[in-house]
Amino acid sequence: MVTKTLSILFVASEVEGLIKSGGLADVAKALPKSLKKLGHQVNIVMPAYQSISGRDAADILLETTLTHWPHTPYQVRALEVDGISVFGIECAEYFDRSEMYAENNQAYSDNGERFAFFSAACLDMLPKLNVQPDIIHANDWHTGLVPYLLKKRYENDAFFSHIRSVLSVHNAVFKGIFHYDEIACLAEFKANYVPEAAVSHSHISMLKAGVLCADKINAVSPTYAKELLTELGSHGMAVDFQSRESDLFGILNGCDYSEWSPEVDSFIPKQFKANRISMVRGKKACKSALQEEVNLPQKEVAMYGMVCRLTNQKGIHYLLPILEQFLKNDVQVVIVGTGDPVLANQLAEIAAINSDKFAFVEAYSNKLAHWVEAASDFFLMPSEFEPCGLNQIYSMAYGTLPIVREVGGLKDSVTDYDSDIDNATGFSFKNPEPVELLLVLMRSLLLYSQNLNEIKRVQLHAMKQNFSWDEAADKYVEMYLS
Ligand code: GLC
Repeated sequence: MVTKTLSILFVASEVEGLIKSGGLADVAKALPKSLKKLGHQVNIVMPAYQSISGRDAADILLETTLTHWPHTPYQVRALEVDGISVFGIECAEYFDRSEMYAENNQAYSDNGERFAFFSAACLDMLPKLNVQPDIIHANDWHTGLVPYLLKKRYENDAFFSHIRSVLSVHNAVFKGIFHYDEIACLAEFKANYVPEAAVSHSHISMLKAGVLCADKINAVSPTYAKELLTELGSHGMAVDFQSRESDLFGILNGCDYSEWSPEVDSFIPKQFKANRISMVRGKKACKSALQEEVNLPQKEVAMYGMVCRLTNQKGIHYLLPILEQFLKNDVQVVIVGTGDPVLANQLAEIAAINSDKFAFVEAYSNKLAHWVEAASDFFLMPSEFEPCGLNQIYSMAYGTLPIVREVGGLKDSVTDYDSDIDNATGFSFKNPEPVELLLVLMRSLLLYSQNLNEIKRVQLHAMKQNFSWDEAADKYVEMYLS
């Protein structure tokens, strides 16, 4: 029941359905959809990157220049995703490039200016379009200057005076640190000292600006909210998060089951339901199709999948030292991802020597991500840190048992088999060490080899979990109202 209808402007650098590089995009689509379902009015605003298909055919809602110096020209396109209207900020100078943030693993040298402009334009367009939200919900460093500008630039502007801001922190390792010169396109930073954002005499952090200026802050899981209060868990920003502790929430992300459910998934070779016969048949067919797709032998064998950005955040450095030893067992491992070229080379080398057991696909493929979730028996997420993690939640929906490190949202969403057999939905380990990962892999394989019936029971139990966005959206509304 809606007590008060809120108008929410969701600001993000990527949105699933239009363009995606990671979990942020999934949230940027699913959360607005659920908020709308609750009766709230939601718009999204994002950069109108050149590579968004259909961009150039979309209506132009506004052609203007920033009212403030340096009066950069831009236009606003009417994009749309799943019935939610998306304001696309188009500016050829900044967003007509082949990628969103980086090329050849190298960040664009003007990212500071690009996202400073984007943050300024998000607010600049509002009076011009006569859009006056109650809440502006920013996400991660790219939009950290939105709460800052709202507080500083528009402090005495009546149009903005009732608007409150929220910042969601999806990954605090990315702080958006730039030299003042790199963001001199905002007059506020020409002064060369902005206490709300300063991290040294010469540099600022856009994330810090958001954390200090937003009215409320959300971490994407309860455990991550606690971790952000520590030096290690916040990657050196504990003081900032501690200063905002009373405004810090931790709301676990949900799963968009219209995208990630084996019953309706249009990517996978065979759909299946949460009952034993359907699950066993469906997963078998998907496994066989994936084996063919990635050139692994056709056989009924324990399959371990992993889909991720290739970075140490995802625990690849725990896996690499023990992978070959694990591959001595009767198993198959499939890893799909792109990222750090050094990690990619190491994985490719191991795959070349173990081609009958290990397939490494260096690609970013939504289709393959769905296939791996459906086909595998186990899903690897041994992350060093993980603000929420979504793939472990998707895995459970496909009866694929996540193997996770007990950190961030992984800890909040997966129950380890050996700690709680009745409620188990996967396997977990604690210490950030390769040998610990090997041990948990062996625990899972032992159960698979000696009691496949029990594995199927746990898989079915995992399928029946419900991480609905509806529940998460209720908590967001509570935060907005506060
Ligand atoms: C980032 C985090 C991931 C989280 C996602 C969505 O990608 O690394 O843990 O699930 O954002 O919030």
